[in-house]
Amino acid sequence: MPPAPAQITKGAMSNQSISSNGKSGRQSVGFDLNSFKVSLNFGFLIENPLTSLPAYYSAWNTLTEQLPELYKAKTVREAVHQLPLLDYNQLSGHRQLRLAHLQLSFITAGYVWQNGDAGIPKSLPKSLAVPFYHISELLGIQPVLCHASLALANWRLKDPNGAFDFENLQCIYHIPGGYSGDWFCIIPFMVEFNFAKCLKNFVEILNLLNIAKELNARDKSRTTIENQTALQLDEVTNVIHLMNKSLARMHDHLDAKTFFNEVRPFLAGWGGEGTPMSDGLIYEGISSTPIKALGGSAAQSTTLQALDGLLGIRHKEGQKEFLVKMRNYMPPEHRRFVEYLENRPYGLPHLVESSTNDVLKSSYNNCITALVQLRTYHIQIVSKYILAASVGMNEGNYKSLDSKGTGGTSVMPFLKVVRADTETKLIGSRQSKKFSKMSWLTIGAVTAIGGAVIFGAVQFVKQK
Ligand code: HEM
Repeated sequence: MPPAPAQITKGAMSNQSISSNGKSGRQSVGFDLNSFKVSLNFGFLIENPLTSLPAYYSAWNTLTEQLPELYKAKTVREAVHQLPLLDYNQLSGHRQLRLAHLQLSFITAGYVWQNGDAGIPKSLPKSLAVPFYHISELLGIQPVLCHASLALANWRLKDPNGAFDFENLQCIYHIPGGYSGDWFCIIPFMVEFNFAKCLKNFVEILNLLNIAKELNARDKSRTTIENQTALQLDEVTNVIHLMNKSLARMHDHLDAKTFFNEVRPFLAGWGGEGTPMSDGLIYEGISSTPIKALGGSAAQSTTLQALDGLLGIRHKEGQKEFLVKMRNYMPPEHRRFVEYLENRPYGLPHLVESSTNDVLKSSYNNCITALVQLRTYHIQIVSKYILAASVGMNEGNYKSLDSKGTGGTSVMPFLKVVRADTETKLIGSRQSKKFSKMSWLTIGAVTAIGGAVIFGAVQFVKQK
């Protein structure tokens, strides 16, 4: 049998599309969100995810439902050894494939990590490995628990007629940690949903850029185009603030100890440098060569990479390499969406940098500043849930995960450079300087308060 690829790179989604419920008024932009399997209402989230597979797959349905109890009792492996080898070809349509990936990725994580670092299996049994590998290949994502399943396909509403909101959201399947684990998933459901609100602005901005690139600098209609772009950017800024607000709700129901010891290990992958499975995991029935797959991380979310693409933020080589690698964990159409935004010959920086319009520059700067604030807030989350937690809350079952993110990065240096790359896009103008001074004060104050809280927490834990 030929060796399996280290990562799945090919793959296409089924024809059943995640439809968008509306279209932009302008069509000149030459792209349609539908063609990227992006929905105007739900963004990158699966619209109406299925909650169970047809009866033929009842063994998978049942095992995934029972997973939290089996995992607690450390009996996932016994249950997996009873699984029949089911034919993945009986799955029909994109939504069934996505649910099957969600189920098998949960079962796989339970199988691998149920005993912590001690006694990690070298291989995945055929009944799990064969369908999981092929379903992942069909979807064009990796055979591991990743954001595309955990955060995009795992949501449902308690009241189907109610709002898509924190209180009305629940998980289809549960990671360890009880409601804290659910909450860890509900936050990205909301962040992704918030992001969808600025997709119409993406479309408008791309249309405006198409018009602007044909105008010369003195053309009078250019001011109108620039002012319209500024308005669209203001709405994008509001959405980024909304995403930040949702992220801030993480503290409501997730404590650092539960996250560090229960949630995080379940998301770990195989094949990352310095991890206990640095060679990867053998998928029996696929290949005797271990397959490497990084752990689940919201770095695999398309949202921030799309914002970077639209705003013209480019990351330094090492950071870029990691973020591009994360795209192998996104559905291929979402990956193409980011590439489309990045590779446009005339992007927002061209318009903004060649303009003397302070309104436009200020709106652009506000948008960049909001993104810097979001990344700053995220760094604080990581400080609390990983760095501070690793000092005094580590129960020691997963020592190997201490210093790295589940995606495999050396966390803080990586995140700080990504934020610094964002800051470099700030453009000088009278208004923006005034604004950015205020913004830096805000960011400085938020960072100082967050830092003090984390420092206090670490000291408290040390004293205990
Ligand atoms: C307890 C909550 C969270 C923790 C501990 C956390 C941790 C991390 C870590 C360690 C990284 C570095 C990459 C890696 O090695 O995995 C990362 C990156 C990233 N995370 Fe999170 N994260 C959390 C929640 C979220 C949420 C809710 C989102 C938004 C959906 C998010 C979005 C991102 C993004 C976009 C990156 C890539 C870096 C960037 O573009 O700024 N994270 N996260």
